[in-house]
Amino acid sequence: MKYSLELTAATRPEWVRRVMSDFPSFLQDHADCERKASAMAMSFVAKYPDRVEIIPELIETGVEELEHFQQVYAHMTKRGIQLAREIAEDPYIKALLNLCRTDPINRFLDRLLLASIIECRGAERFRLVCEAIENDEELKEFYHRLWTSEAKHGNIFVKMALNYFDEKKVYARLNELNEAEGKIVESLELRPALH
Ligand SMILES: [Fe+2]
Ligand SMILES: [Fe+2]
Repeated sequence: MKYSLELTAATRPEWVRRVMSDFPSFLQDHADCERKASAMAMSFVAKYPDRVEIIPELIETGVEELEHFQQVYAHMTKRGIQLAREIAEDPYIKALLNLCRTDPINRFLDRLLLASIIECRGAERFRLVCEAIENDEELKEFYHRLWTSEAKHGNIFVKMALNYFDEKKVYARLNELNEAEGKIVESLELRPALH
């Protein structure tokens, strides 16, 4: 069984060019994204303390994302780049969260499925960054590792949802959200940022 879906809209090559043209800004945004991903995993733990089946994996994911943050920060320090003082709102995440239904059960499902899609988009974009990096094997290898790690996370959240919801319901909603994500990605202005 597949635990994630193919993204419906491939990232445009212009996005990679924009990122490579201002890599310091991209690193600052990337660091924020990893820190927020860790916080998001831990916020599931805080919000759903009775969902004991998924708590160990959520904690593990939170730790992994925090390690990613640590690693991005190390790459930044090496280049004399500081963390951004002002953290701009992420229009992509905001638009996705607006798709969440409001009743508690469906909200839980939607949050898990969106987490999966966000991870899949991250994996796709880290692959593009990895492929675009030249003359820096260490950085290239770093984005390669992140690409595989986020692809793994893309599956974890769907598996979590399958603990609580039947397969048909999970994949029907995952399809809907995945379609919507593709439209959102295509509507956003390109920035030297992950989204
Ligand atoms: Fe990550
Ligand atoms: Fe991740």
